[in-house]
Amino acid sequence: MSDNTMSATKVKYENTAEFAEKMDEQDPLKEYRGEFLFPKVNDKQCLYFAGNSLGLQPKKVRQFIVEELEDWEQWGVEGHFEARHPWLPYHEFLTDSTARLVGAKPEEVVVMNTLTVNLHLMMVTFYRPDKTRFKILVEGGSFPSDKYAVDSQARFHGFDPKEAIVELWPRDGEKTLRHEDITSKIEELKDSLALVMLGNVNYLTGQAFDLKNIASAAQKVGAFCGTNLAHGAGNLHLKLHDWGLDFAVWCSYKYLNSGPGSLAGCFIHERHLGQKDIPRFEGWWGTNKKTRFQMGPDFDPIPTAEAWQLSNPPIFQLAALRASLELFDKATISELRKKSELLTGYLEFLLEQMTEYIQITTPKDPTQRGCQLSVTVGGDAKALVKDLSKKGVICDFREPNIIRLAPTPLYNNFEDVFELCKVLKSHS
Ligand SMILES: Cc1ncc(COP(=O)(O)O)c(C=O)c1O
Repeated sequence: MSDNTMSATKVKYENTAEFAEKMDEQDPLKEYRGEFLFPKVNDKQCLYFAGNSLGLQPKKVRQFIVEELEDWEQWGVEGHFEARHPWLPYHEFLTDSTARLVGAKPEEVVVMNTLTVNLHLMMVTFYRPDKTRFKILVEGGSFPSDKYAVDSQARFHGFDPKEAIVELWPRDGEKTLRHEDITSKIEELKDSLALVMLGNVNYLTGQAFDLKNIASAAQKVGAFCGTNLAHGAGNLHLKLHDWGLDFAVWCSYKYLNSGPGSLAGCFIHERHLGQKDIPRFEGWWGTNKKTRFQMGPDFDPIPTAEAWQLSNPPIFQLAALRASLELFDKATISELRKKSELLTGYLEFLLEQMTEYIQITTPKDPTQRGCQLSVTVGGDAKALVKDLSKKGVICDFREPNIIRLAPTPLYNNFEDVFELCKVLKSHS
């Protein structure tokens, strides 16, 4: 038995089915599991631990999309005004929920495009290199698309990525970054640093960074600071406005459960809003809503994050996300995070009893991680993940040897975690 202290709660974990059952009975968020559709293998509901990759389908998604299909059938183009949720302002129906989710003011967020597209759009605005200040600080081992994005931005501005992109790696013999190494690197790069661009949570190690202090260190040396919250949105309790980040981007198909390839979010701090001459790529969905349909030639930016919108958005994807965000609004991210710390703590407790077979890469400190634990195993991790999936245990493998296990508080429970570890034990 071990002693785990998480937020205000002190729980003595036990490696028994009865304990897991008791925790589930006491769980104030237990009803949300029933709001989701679980895949089945051999007619049996899967143990699903891949919400870090693709979240499960909320039952309401189908209804919300069908409503839009019906309104399209009934109204044709008039649906832009006459649909139950008119399409013209449809993205606005998601604004307040999105702002609550990431700790922003409503005017600071917008749902649009996909993740890598938004990352590029943000760098158009926030990567403004000159001859001396042109470097971008990223974490070593960032998601490949993020690395391709920063490299190509450097090249686009005429810089060699080998000089412009500074990758920060853990110290020799360590698996994750030390916070003091991030801030001291920022201080060292000083006048040469244009942008700090970190993922939060890191997709591979599961490490979450202290964004507040990193943003403050970056801004102290005159650099902008942005983050990719692909693995943080819907997972961590974020306070983007108060932390003072310049921008953030995230996708909605992982912890936000809005379906494969679905839309992305974007945060731009209010201090950058309402500036007509800020560098930005522009399209008609970013111009003044009152005059947009006068079809004039000049762009008049909306004084919110909406000014960065390019196109009229895909309504079916927005409908899926709206269904999912309703659940987050009801459950609240602060309560979800409390459960998440307990649930991931339980997974950690059980895995630590198999140390001869499984090693955890993700930091132990709950403030430095979300729900995901990344682990290595003795033996072929890729083959193990394949084998598990045939048995109805879904998690994922990432090169070179990492298995990611993400108990998500909306639809996973303690019995799932207990069962998962029982299966893992049988493979050890
Ligand atoms: C950290 C991170 N960055 C970028 C991406 C790429 O996202 P997209 O294909 O939506 O642009 C992903 C996708 O999983 C990711 O996890």
